[in-house]
Amino acid sequence: MEFKHVSIMLDEVIENLDIKSDGVYVDGTLGGAGHAWHVCKRLGENGRFIGIDQDAAAIAAGTQRLAEFGDRVTIVRSNYCHMKDVLHDLGIEKVDGILLDLGVSSYQFDNAGRGFSYREDAPLDMRMDQRQELTARDIVNNYSESDLYRIIRDFGEDKFAKNIARHICMARQKKTIETTFELTEIIKAAIPMKVRATGGHPAKKTFQALRIELNHELEVLQNSLNDMIDLLNEDGRICIITFHSLEDRIVKTIFRKNENPCECPPSFPVCMCGKKSKGKVITRKPIIPDAVEMEENPRSKSAKLRVFMRRTQE
Ligand SMILES: C[S@@+](CC[C@H](N)C(=O)[O-])C[C@H]1O[C@@H](n2cnc3c(N)ncnc32)[C@H](O)[C@@H]1O
Repeated sequence: MEFKHVSIMLDEVIENLDIKSDGVYVDGTLGGAGHAWHVCKRLGENGRFIGIDQDAAAIAAGTQRLAEFGDRVTIVRSNYCHMKDVLHDLGIEKVDGILLDLGVSSYQFDNAGRGFSYREDAPLDMRMDQRQELTARDIVNNYSESDLYRIIRDFGEDKFAKNIARHICMARQKKTIETTFELTEIIKAAIPMKVRATGGHPAKKTFQALRIELNHELEVLQNSLNDMIDLLNEDGRICIITFHSLEDRIVKTIFRKNENPCECPPSFPVCMCGKKSKGKVITRKPIIPDAVEMEENPRSKSAKLRVFMRRTQE
């Protein structure tokens, strides 16, 4: 299967990374190297690019796409939460720009066998890193009803979470739930007919919740951002594209905290906690795709880009 993926907000990302031709840039979610190719194109002889992805298919596609840039490019199969160690092993301690374009690629989503899509019948897999043992099948069949409820409520923000969790547990008593279509049918039965007719696809939120839980998507993001900001050189930038409010909230909060980490009560005339700002949030409001992009690529509709610039306080 060909690796097809349209890069989201390509111009906006490139502009906001403010690429220096001799700089060092990292893409922690390389995918098919759509954004990455345009970064590499702007690098000169002394520039360097490191692409990280946990998915073997993305690594293969990205390696091929960036081959023309020779040894300016290094590609590593890893989780971006290990970025600091990956760079350290390559002898790199600081970088000029970092990009994260979160979530799954269209390739992963459209590849029925990966089990990410409720529109294709496939084994319940949903692993971004296929070296991992746990799959969505394990979560659906082994998590307690209260844990299923919690993840569908918190990571899917589905108001029928309780009912969906109950229906999953009832169904699996009769038979192990093996496929995306089996799960979709169970979810449909848990949602009132009226909502089914008018809302989006009834399984969308539960599938999102399972994917986030299985791949630890929010934890990884939450635990990596401060390290990434610390990796930036002076004036270096980090650009992050998120696809749902849970991710966006994490990015917004951590960027703000790095801009203004002071914990002193407002009544203190001067700062006593000594926590210094690490830089500036460039995007007071997130950048979103323009109308043309949303029209041409419906998957871009929920995308938000936030940018932070490193600036050490004297
Ligand atoms: C939306 S795609 C990136 C597409 C890419 N920007 C492009 O233009 O081709 C997201 C990619 O990030 C990878 N990914 C998601 N979370 C990751 C993580 N925590 N560590 C490493 N890779 C991750 C996925 O495997 C997927 O290939």
